Order: sequence, then structure tokens, then C-alpha cells
Amino acid sequence: MTKSRIVSVLAAAAALLVAMSASADPKKSAELVAKGKASYETNCAACHGEKGLGDGEAGAALDPKPRNIVKEGFKQGLKPAQIHAMLKKGIDGSTMVSFEHLSDDELWALSYYVLELRAGGKSKK
Ligand code: HEC
Repeated sequence: MTKSRIVSVLAAAAALLVAMSASADPKKSAELVAKGKASYETNCAACHGEKGLGDGEAGAALDPKPRNIVKEGFKQGLKPAQIHAMLKKGIDGSTMVSFEHLSDDELWALSYYVLELRAGGKSKK
């Protein structure tokens, strides 16, 4: 193989790795959960409440009511990727709007924090 051929093969491999890592769930980390907590307090707590119990001030008059994230089921599923997809799309016919304007990283952070709230903050990682 010529040197330029090797370089182009390496470049293709690197591009593939980048593409793969963008589509996979990022690994859960303390940083990601902390980022999710901060974002949750800004974007979600008004409706879902500080602890996720569905008792935020802005949520009281809504129909349907904001979900109790800790105790109630999720129609779109409980896997991080399913929560991520739900946040990106929103839920039709409700005030659970799309949060597509947030970065992908922030949506993953929120997804992990939602699961953390469900676990009652018991899991440390
Ligand atoms: C304006 C109020 C409001 C805000 C802000 C809001 N939600 Fe919701 N959320 C709702 C309502 C209402 C529902 C229930 C929708 C339904 O039952 O159809 C809901 C449902 C959900 C569900 C259940 C999804 C499912 O699959 O059933 C999750 C999880 C959730 N919200 C997380 C979040 C997160 C995370 C944020 C912040 C990024 C957020 N919500 C911001 C009102 C809100």
C-alpha cells in the first residue's frame, strides 16, 4: 500500500468511528447525570416538580397532567434511547413539547437524570 492509500484508509476508519459513536447511547457518567439535573431544573421542574412527582406549579392546571416521573409508567418506554427519542419528538396532544432545540448531549443527560429520579437517586453511577 502506498502511503497516501494508508492515510485514506485510516481517515475512513476514523470517520466510521465518529459516525458509530454519534448513534450509540453515550455511557452514563456522574458528569452526564449532573448536567441532566441542571437542565431538568431549568426545563422540566416547573411542570414535573423538583423531584419528578408531577407536582410542579406550572403543571397543576394542565390536562393531561405532567407525568409523575418517579411512580407512573412511560408510554414511550424506559430505556435511555426511548426517553431521548421522546424528548426529541415531544408527545402529541399534550404540553410535553419537543426539546429538539437542546443539544443531543443535553438530551442524553436529561434521559439519564429522569431514570435517576425514578431510581430515587439510589444508584450512584
Ligand atoms: C409544560 C409542562 C411540561 C414541561 C416543561 C415538561 N413536561 Fe414532560 N410531560 C408533561 C405532560 C403534560 C406529560 C404527559 C403527557 C401525556 O400523558 O400525554 C409529560 C410526560 C413526560 C414523560 C413521560 C413520557 C412517556 O413516555 O410517557 C417524561 C419522561 C417527561 N415528561 C419528561 C420531561 C422532561 C425530561 C422535561 C424537560 C426536558 C419535561 N418533561 C418537560 C408536561 C411537561
